[in-house]
Amino acid sequence: MILQGLSPHPSSIFYYLKMVSLLLPNLSSPISRLTLLWRPSLQLTFKATSKFQLHNKSVKPEWFKSFSACNLPMVANDNLVVLGIETSCDDTAAAVAELLARYGGVAPKMAEEAHALVIDQVVQEALDKANLTERDLTAVAVTIGPGLSLCLRIGVRKARKVAGSHNLPLVGVHHMEAHTLVARLVERELQFPFMALLVSGGHNLLILARDLGDYIQLGTTIDDAIGEAYDKTAKWLGLDLRRSGGPAVEELAREGDAKSVNFKVPMKQHKDCNFSYAGLKTQVRLAIEAKRINAEISLASASDEERQARADIAASFQRVAVLHLEEKCERAIEWALNIEPSINHLVVSGGVASNKYVRARLDEVVNRKGLKLVCPPPSLCTDNGVMVAWTGIEHFRLGRFDPPPPANELEDAVLDLRPRWPLGEEYAEGKSEARSMRTARMHPSLTSLIKASIKLESQSAI
Ligand code: KG4
Ligand code: ZN
Repeated sequence: MILQGLSPHPSSIFYYLKMVSLLLPNLSSPISRLTLLWRPSLQLTFKATSKFQLHNKSVKPEWFKSFSACNLPMVANDNLVVLGIETSCDDTAAAVAELLARYGGVAPKMAEEAHALVIDQVVQEALDKANLTERDLTAVAVTIGPGLSLCLRIGVRKARKVAGSHNLPLVGVHHMEAHTLVARLVERELQFPFMALLVSGGHNLLILARDLGDYIQLGTTIDDAIGEAYDKTAKWLGLDLRRSGGPAVEELAREGDAKSVNFKVPMKQHKDCNFSYAGLKTQVRLAIEAKRINAEISLASASDEERQARADIAASFQRVAVLHLEEKCERAIEWALNIEPSINHLVVSGGVASNKYVRARLDEVVNRKGLKLVCPPPSLCTDNGVMVAWTGIEHFRLGRFDPPPPANELEDAVLDLRPRWPLGEEYAEGKSEARSMRTARMHPSLTSLIKASIKLESQSAI
């Protein structure tokens, strides 16, 4: 059936890219963007050139350039259109941040309701903008974890509904793998094995990507992720949270003296690649209290002196938060090169990777180590549907997908949701005692599941 059409040579095909990233229109919409991806032009399918038409105004020209020159190492189907749905947490659209600003974080129940309100509309708008209908799709990809169950459920239900009623296969996507693999869409040289640092609101991961679906976790956070520390710093400094806290801190930090407050770099004494941001958060809170900064007074109404005090804290926090990333990355690169000496790239992705200071500092680390930094454009670093659709394509090409769900599936059908789902197995040297307590109720890692199914397949082939 669907897989039999695979033709292995994409570079000679004229591809037509349809990509729609929707920014959601109103306050009640913390749903991710939804994307349609890769559609070869039917009339021009076999022209001997590789070229793309990009239908996404939000994508920057430089990204388009690198993309259009791309050799497409991994596209193997000449008629592949995958719908990607991402609802693992909240969205990064301005409208969403407005909603979240009042709460200073993601309230799962509220996010669930908002996802539910707009999911149908988002899917329909994406299809309309791409000038496609569900009948044009090859498969549906959807994030099944990790994330908030309540939110994941909305996306998965919608994906199963679309797939079920149009007899389409489903690809269940790991949110962090999607953050990683989207880099392969933008960087043509990016072949396995490579390293990745994934930095977002809920995750702080250092991984070695050996192959598609084969990851070693070199380090993770033992408490909070860096994005969470940015968000709380922004909230306590009384910054405008409409675009989420990170961008507000980044902006204010430019006005501050990064050496003015002496925060301690976390986990200096730990010779591993794990992270911790809870202590730094506390240090920031105490510094804010000591300077008697009142978060109720907005930055715009603060006096010059007060604004400077806030900027100094923002800059000092950012310097130390990123130093922590730099130090652990440096060690992780050494570990990774020992395991896979052929590594050439470090991917930095996830919401915090849109930060210019983060990019610049990590670029230096990576250059010192003789590697190249790959950082997707900000619109693809923060949660988006493109990354899910792309990951769907990568797995689909290898035959890793589920058959279409039954049409008219009951609303209360039990769904395969994986709120706590590691990407890979922990590297033995990187195991943290502090974390081992927290592994209860975890789903087996993506890597172990894929390895088990490959083993099963090879046994049944004998
Ligand atoms: O990947 P993402 O969109 O969602 C999660 O999976 O968490 O990441 C969101 C996080 C938020 O904590 C947000 O404050 C942070 O990424 N972020 C930033 C920046 N843009 C987004 N942090 C620092 N600087 C930024 N420019
Ligand atoms: Zn994310």
